[in-house]
Amino acid sequence: MITVAIDGPAGVGKSSTSKAVAKYFGYAYLDTGAMYRACAWWCLHKGIDLDAETLDERFVTETVAEFFTEGHFDIAVDPDDPRVFADGEDISEAIRSSEVSTHVSKVSNIIPVRHILIAAQRAYIAAQGPEESFSNGLGIVAEGRDITTVVAPDAEVRILLTAREEVRQARRNGQAKSGVGAENVAARDKMDSKVTSFLTASEGVTTVDNSDLTFEETLDVLIGLVETAE
Ligand code: C5P
Repeated sequence: MITVAIDGPAGVGKSSTSKAVAKYFGYAYLDTGAMYRACAWWCLHKGIDLDAETLDERFVTETVAEFFTEGHFDIAVDPDDPRVFADGEDISEAIRSSEVSTHVSKVSNIIPVRHILIAAQRAYIAAQGPEESFSNGLGIVAEGRDITTVVAPDAEVRILLTAREEVRQARRNGQAKSGVGAENVAARDKMDSKVTSFLTASEGVTTVDNSDLTFEETLDVLIGLVETAE
């Protein structure tokens, strides 16, 4: 079973390209950002003020722990239809709102929260998804900010997908017309960089800068990298 780990900053096109790579090889697709977004959505839904001057990190951690251990959270890792659920409600679109995008780093910056999610992500990677939901045994593409470095440093393929900031901001602005919340990508990267390292590749990680590549060209490069590992 092959694990493909892909990290990168906001607006680089990680989700769409990672999903396409997973589809191409028949692998499962794990969007770890969607897991952090689901946690932020859950906290907001529970009425936690994530803008509070002094955020009660212990309470946020307990709320996230409950979300996972009491079975409220679920995720589908089929690249043809990746979904995230909270108490059976499909929140896949809701987690892309501006409100969630601008608050998610408040939750993901809490180290004990990260430990809960990292453990869950490692279990999903080992089983190709929750309770082997996508169990063809071929492999999994997992994408996020700390997959190549922390979650799956032993992955067969490790890629840092990056692009110039203005290119990423322009892409996000373009997506904002199709339901993805508008946001400042640099601001989120700054917050996220406090706890994860995705701006430069760590040792053994291949950097792919797609600033001047089309979606298809990026995909070709990524497929080539996976093929050499297969
Ligand atoms: O990838 P996406 O932009 O959807 O990620 C949403 C947020 O989740 C990031 O801005 C970051 O705060 C958090 N995240 C993280 N570690 C990951 C993936 C995402 O902290 N592996």
